[in-house]
This record gives sequence, C-alpha cells and structure tokens, in this order.
Amino acid sequence: MQVGSSTVTVIDTVLDVADAEADRLGFWAAQARRLDWDTDFTQVLDYTDAPFARWFADGRLNVAHNCIDRHVAAGHGDRIAIHWEGEPGDHRTISYADLQADVSRAANALTTLGLVAGDRVAIYLPMIPEAIIAMLACARLGVLHTVVFGGFAAHALRDRINDAAAKLVITSDGQYRRGVAAALKPAVDEALSTAPEESTVAHVLVVRRTGGDVAWTHDRDLWWHDVMATAAPQHTPEAFPAEQPLFLLYTSGTTGKPKGIVHTCGGYLTQAAYTHQVIFDLKPATDVFWCTADIGWVTGHTYAVYGPLSNGATQVIYEGTPEFPDQHRHFEIIEKYGVTIYYTAPTLIRTFMKWGAEVPDAHDLTSLRLLGSVGEPINPEAWRWYRQVIGADTLPVVDTWWQTETGAAMISPLPGIAAAKPGAAMTPLPGISAMIVDDDGNRIAPADGSAEPVTGYLVVDQPWPAMARGIWGDRQRFIDTYWSRFAEQGWYFAGDGARYDADGDIWVLGRVDDVMNVAGHRISTAEVESALVGHPAVAEAAVVGAADEQTGQRICAFVVVAKSYSDWSDVDDAIIGELRTRVAAEISPIAKPRMVHVVPELPKTRSGKIMRRLLRDVAEGRELGDTSTLVDPSVFEAIRTGR
Ligand code: WTA
Repeated sequence: MQVGSSTVTVIDTVLDVADAEADRLGFWAAQARRLDWDTDFTQVLDYTDAPFARWFADGRLNVAHNCIDRHVAAGHGDRIAIHWEGEPGDHRTISYADLQADVSRAANALTTLGLVAGDRVAIYLPMIPEAIIAMLACARLGVLHTVVFGGFAAHALRDRINDAAAKLVITSDGQYRRGVAAALKPAVDEALSTAPEESTVAHVLVVRRTGGDVAWTHDRDLWWHDVMATAAPQHTPEAFPAEQPLFLLYTSGTTGKPKGIVHTCGGYLTQAAYTHQVIFDLKPATDVFWCTADIGWVTGHTYAVYGPLSNGATQVIYEGTPEFPDQHRHFEIIEKYGVTIYYTAPTLIRTFMKWGAEVPDAHDLTSLRLLGSVGEPINPEAWRWYRQVIGADTLPVVDTWWQTETGAAMISPLPGIAAAKPGAAMTPLPGISAMIVDDDGNRIAPADGSAEPVTGYLVVDQPWPAMARGIWGDRQRFIDTYWSRFAEQGWYFAGDGARYDADGDIWVLGRVDDVMNVAGHRISTAEVESALVGHPAVAEAAVVGAADEQTGQRICAFVVVAKSYSDWSDVDDAIIGELRTRVAAEISPIAKPRMVHVVPELPKTRSGKIMRRLLRDVAEGRELGDTSTLVDPSVFEAIRTGR
C-alpha cells in the first residue's frame, strides 16, 4: 500500500498474526526475545496465581539497557533519540549516546542519594528531557517511578507520594503553560508539609526550568544540576528478574482513592516494544515519531518513553500547549522535525476541527505517513477530518484502544493489513484475545443491520504480557475491581462498553462504570464527589460525565446544600464558583465541573443508590428515562426547574 512518501510493510505482520493464533505463548516468547536478555527465560507464562500473572519470570533483563545501551552498542549512538521542543521555543537534540550519559549520571546520583532496587521515586515534572532521564534512571536501578501529572494539585500529589511511600520526589522550579512560567515546586512543598515527621521522603531533587524563585528546605532539597555535575557518566546496569516492578501509575477508579497500577519489566517492555513497532509500522532509522501525550499518563509512559526508545526510534517531545504562541504550533513542529508518525487524542483533533482546516493547510505536512488516535472513542466525523485534512486523504489512521491497566495497546487496526473504519478500534492485536459479552458472559453477535446494534462489555479473556500485576499494596482490590464481574470465567473486565459491527469489528463506546473521560483524562466521579462534600456547604454530591462535542465528556455536579448552611435556594454563584475552584485545587483543573447544579435532593433508588443515569439525562437535556425505581420521582421536577 502506498501512503505518503513511503510504503507500509505488511509481510512480517501477516506472518505474526498467523503465528499468534496458532501459538499465543510462542508468539509472545518470540516478541520478548527481540529484547536483550541478560538471562534467557525458560517459562513464558505462569498463571497459577491468577489473576496475578508472571511472564518470562526466570529471565533477567535491564529495561534502561534495552532502551539505550543496546542501541549505542549496535552503533546507533549518534541517532537522535529525542528532539525536544520547549514551549518558549528553545530546543535540545539528544542522541542515544547523550541519553546514555545522562541516564548513567542520574542513576549514579540516585544511588548516591541512597536509592536501591525496589524503592519508589515520585516524578512530578513537565515534559522536559529530565522527566524521561529520571524515569530511565529509575528503571536502570530497579527503582519504581511513579509519575504524577504536572497538572495535578498538591493534594492529589500528596496522596500518591504517601500511598507509594516514595523516598525521593523529582520536580522542577516551574513549568511553561501557555506562555506563562507557572511555579511547580510549591505544590511539592505543600504536599510534604502536612506530616513531615511521618513522611518517607528524604530528598526533593529540583530541575531548574523557569528560573523563578523557589523556597528551599535545607538538607532536603537539592538541585538536579548540582547532583548531575558530580555524577559519573558511566554506569553498568544490573539485570533484574522480568517480574521486578518497573513503575506504579496512579489512575482513577470508581472510588475516591486512586489506584497505584503496578507494571513489571519483562512483560510490559515486550508488549510496549512490539505494539509500538507494528501499530506504527516503525522504521527506526528513518521515522520521526511524535506521541503528544504527557508522561503523567500511561500513553506517555508506553509511547513517549518505553515503546519508542526500546525500538531505537527518533521522537519528538514537546513541552507546551498546542495553542501557544498560536494554533499553528503542532503543525510547525511536524514541519520543523519532519514528523512521520503522529499519535494524539480525539479531543485535540476536535479542537483542530474547530480552529479550521486553514491552520494545518498552511503547513507542509508531507512528511507524515501514519496517524494514530488514543484515549477516548473517536467519532467518525473527527476520524474522517483527521485523515482528510491532516492525512491528505491517504494516510492510514490507527485507533488504538487500551488502558493504564493493560499497559500497552490491545485493540487496533494494523496498517496495511486491514482497512480501518472511521471510529472503530477494529480487532485485538496479534497475541491478544478480547471479546464483547452480555451480562451473562455470552459473546454477543455481530450486528445484522436489522436492529439497533447490541452493546456489551469489553473483556480480555486471556492473560497478556503488559497486564497490570496488581494495585500497589492492595491485592484484593485488584481482584475485586477487574476480575469479579466475570469471576467464573476468569476474564478481565475493562469497564468499557462496546459493540460489534456487521463484519465483527469492535467499536469501543466508552466507560460503563463511574469513571469519566474528559479530554482523554480519566477522572472518577467519586473523587470529584469527595472533593465537593469536603466543602462545609455541601451535604451530598453526585457527579456525572455528560456527552460533550469537544472533550468527549464534561463534568456536571449536582449538590445538595447542608441544612445548617442555608436554604438551598439561597445559594449563590459565589459558592458555586468556590466549589469549582475547590475541585481544581484538590484534584486538578481538568477535574473542575463545568456546571454545578444545586438541587434539593439527589435521585436515589430504594436501596439508596444514586441514579446517575437520570442525572446524565438531565445534564444532557434529554427526556428522562425510566424513573419508576426512584423513591421520589418528583425530585426531578425540582431538579429540572431549578426549584
Ligand atoms: C478510553 C489511556 C475508545 C476507554 C490509553 C478506556 C478509549 C480508558 C480508547 C483508559 C479508544 C482509550 N477508543 N476509548 N481508542 N483508548 N479509551 O487508563 O474508556 O488513561 O477504558 O488509558 O480510555 O484510559 P487510560
């Protein structure tokens, strides 16, 4: 298939698909052996303690060696690993040899600070090279990193540092957002201020990025450039067992407490490398790959760090927002670095649509040869626009479905193998077994065109290498959260609804649980509710994600005001403003409810469960669905009329 200026290789992948079907474990063993193992494994999968899988368990490897050193050893030290573009327009070019020296220095520095394999380090940084260097330095030492998105507030940061019992926090003085140098370190200071005597954090390592003033805690705080200056640029990595934890990444679930998803070295890296190679049809010597996700999310981990680097790719990392200094920024970056593969989220594609085709049309985008989408369902209109306007009506578009818990992509078209359909994630990747089932676990039938397509639950019915190995410190919660819905069958329930089309291809419809997806960011209703009820004016709160053209979902909150506070009808805009600000301060500005409705009561079933479905109807301005199970249907009249 001829696309853009280059050709998609189909032959290897065709063989892979057949191999994978005949011998799934043999297939994954072959993919794993594309990495460098210090000790080869003899067993592929040990699932005796299901759902806690062990892949390649008696093998030993070092993840950072696989992402850096082996490429340098193979003579690719001069290849550019990272074209980094700062928001103000500064840039850095980092070769694999440079990366090896910097990661070695950082690993030596962390060792000097007393970190040893198994310890946890929290990384709270903007998209600057040091973020990736810090992650790889941890990986090199068998230290677990837990990256906390730089947009999270102090409270959310504190919960994550404490849950992980991190010994070190790596942050920066500030970060550039929309042209403004915003301070970042104060959030770390605040996060560590509550119970310093109980804190496990011994040091805070601070990268100088914006050059602003920073408050300093002596003995605890250290400048990154100081420790790096005295650290040697050579470091011999130690090989760790494949099941050595690589990182924790906190994600929102259906309760207020974020879950530290655990990923380990061998299986995660195998699937990250394999999927990055086949989904994007990567040609490491010539491609320039750009995944626009922040490293604070799993997409940034797998496709801006471990996938591309393990494959020896050249990639772009951009620090800032797409609209700074104007709406042309992403297209200028594509032009400047000759980006060949561009991987982003539907929310951004819809934003580009709103800005208009004249923005991308003003640029030479002919370097592009493949486009990808991730993080939320992509509506067919956005898919078509993406292909037509950004992809010159010729480029393949891959819509990749996966999750923090799956570690790497699971369902996606493969370029060159099957024609993709606008809006469909298509089929499970080679080696992955997933299906859509009904309440009782029966596989649902493909649509036959005669009736409304049947929607079911998306399940993964066979273990896969990059699957989460658990929730940090809470074995039972992992079982309860993901494996109880179809416990009898032993299937992983992803929390998403999906349907088959007439060809049996998969369309993912989005979350069916209490997790919202706002602009590709996972936020739990419970987390926002708990921030709201923390306000003295609020007695009860219910939060729903309502459909939104731009961001997929928007957050709508319904609050009942405490009797002691005032009569609910007197609550004025000031309190509503205060509530929205509170959520932003407690969690993140991305979790701020778009609307807060003050209501006399929440609609509940007789068993006391809040009927979010009905609140969603209200939020989306629909006729109410079935209200017969409500204790008091008249509640809705009051909610709707605002009285
Ligand atoms: C949603 C992001 C439809 C889904 C990689 C999933 C998608 C959640 C897609 C995981 C897609 C991700 N089509 N929905 N291609 N990709 N999702 O953990 O609801 O941040 O459960 O991982 O995003 O979000 P997470």
